[in-house]
Amino acid sequence: MLYHIVTYGCQMNVHESEKIAGTLHGEGYTFCGDIDKADLIVFNTCCIRENAEKRVFGNIGALKKRKMTDAGLKIAVLGCMTQQKDAAARLKKKFPFVDIVLGANNLHLLPYYLKLNDKKNSVKIEEADTYDINISVDTFRTSFPNAWVNIMYGCDNFCSYCIVPYVRGREVSRSPKDILNEVNFLIGEGYKEITLLGQNVNSYRYEDCDFSGLLCELSKIDKKFRLRFMTSNPKDFSDDVIDAMNLSKNICKHIHLPVQSGSDRILKLMNRKYTAKRYIELIEKIYGNIDNALVSTDIMVGFPTETDEDFCETIRLTETCKFSQAFTFIYSPRQNTLAAKMPDIDAEIKKQRIGELIRVQNKITKEISDSFKGKTEEVLIDDYKDGYFMGRTDNGRLVRFKKRESYEVGDFVRIKIFASKSASLAGEII
Ligand code: 5AD
Ligand code: SF4
Repeated sequence: MLYHIVTYGCQMNVHESEKIAGTLHGEGYTFCGDIDKADLIVFNTCCIRENAEKRVFGNIGALKKRKMTDAGLKIAVLGCMTQQKDAAARLKKKFPFVDIVLGANNLHLLPYYLKLNDKKNSVKIEEADTYDINISVDTFRTSFPNAWVNIMYGCDNFCSYCIVPYVRGREVSRSPKDILNEVNFLIGEGYKEITLLGQNVNSYRYEDCDFSGLLCELSKIDKKFRLRFMTSNPKDFSDDVIDAMNLSKNICKHIHLPVQSGSDRILKLMNRKYTAKRYIELIEKIYGNIDNALVSTDIMVGFPTETDEDFCETIRLTETCKFSQAFTFIYSPRQNTLAAKMPDIDAEIKKQRIGELIRVQNKITKEISDSFKGKTEEVLIDDYKDGYFMGRTDNGRLVRFKKRESYEVGDFVRIKIFASKSASLAGEII
């Protein structure tokens, strides 16, 4: 039997799709790149923003015709969208031809429902409020030389715009022992980069081990590999993490530190629990204490009641912080969140603001890329296409360079950077 997975959303979901794939391989399914040939199509959904959700609905709807003529085809919808209270009901009403619906915390049940579904064709709904840390599933990894490793699940922060705490449940951290075992295993398997995943890695805690403690433990692994982590939350980012980054030869000097807004009034409404001043102080501390550190961020425009002045403060903060990259979003109201009850602002204004923000950040992104010219950087080769390798510097800049026969994906190489193109660099192996 052939399966195909369509993944929406962030790295967390990409890794979850690897777990879904792992459960399917255990049942004898084989991956098929061509969705039209698959016997089973799995949608691993995301509901963090409205447009991700709209795409899911559009893509499932597009399968209606095929499902009517292809009796053997099975469709399963998983992920955080289906974890919403009435999403399963909405799906059932709109797409009665969907076979299986499972919430984000229940992906391990897919094989069970596939077997059940063989006998009876109906939508199954399973929701679990919080991820069960004791569940372990096989993972079919697809991102060599990088391997994603969850260190925690869920989120307790309830930022007022965000649906994640409602669909992913409360924070639970894995034990350092389990994490170390997994990382050691992956390094033994040849993975060269480990990316620790959590909605707020800085609030990781297992008994007396906090996030910096975990980083120190992982740094003791005496092999050459890169250690990355995401996402960091400014309100919980401690000096100990900066110390751990400086002490470790493995931890990459890149921090993804979403700021969301530069206006204290909006940050308060967002329930982010820091001010613009505190955020900037943190950035200064990072740049001042970690050589060659780069910081990327997420920024949202058009949060309810955001004025021109609030937006100008976001622009000023963006210019001050010199982010290596910014992922920019237009605010969209999400079910059950506090912000969804606040008055939404004009869509045209949101569009103008995101355009201006992108313009400002593009200039900074290019300046940072330009500053690499002439430097020699260690790069981990992570992809190959059309005669060129792609990889990243330690601090996360993408580099493209001509392939050489003696090298392959997963190798560390020294690259001399000779040109820059917005967010990426061009170089050559030396
Ligand atoms: N609208 C727009 N962007 C959002 N994000 C989270 N919730 C929303 C929303 N309701 C953005 C934030 C977060 C990123 C993953 O998605 O910037 O950091
Ligand atoms: Fe959402 Fe805030 Fe949790 Fe991030 S920290 S997942 S933005 S609630």
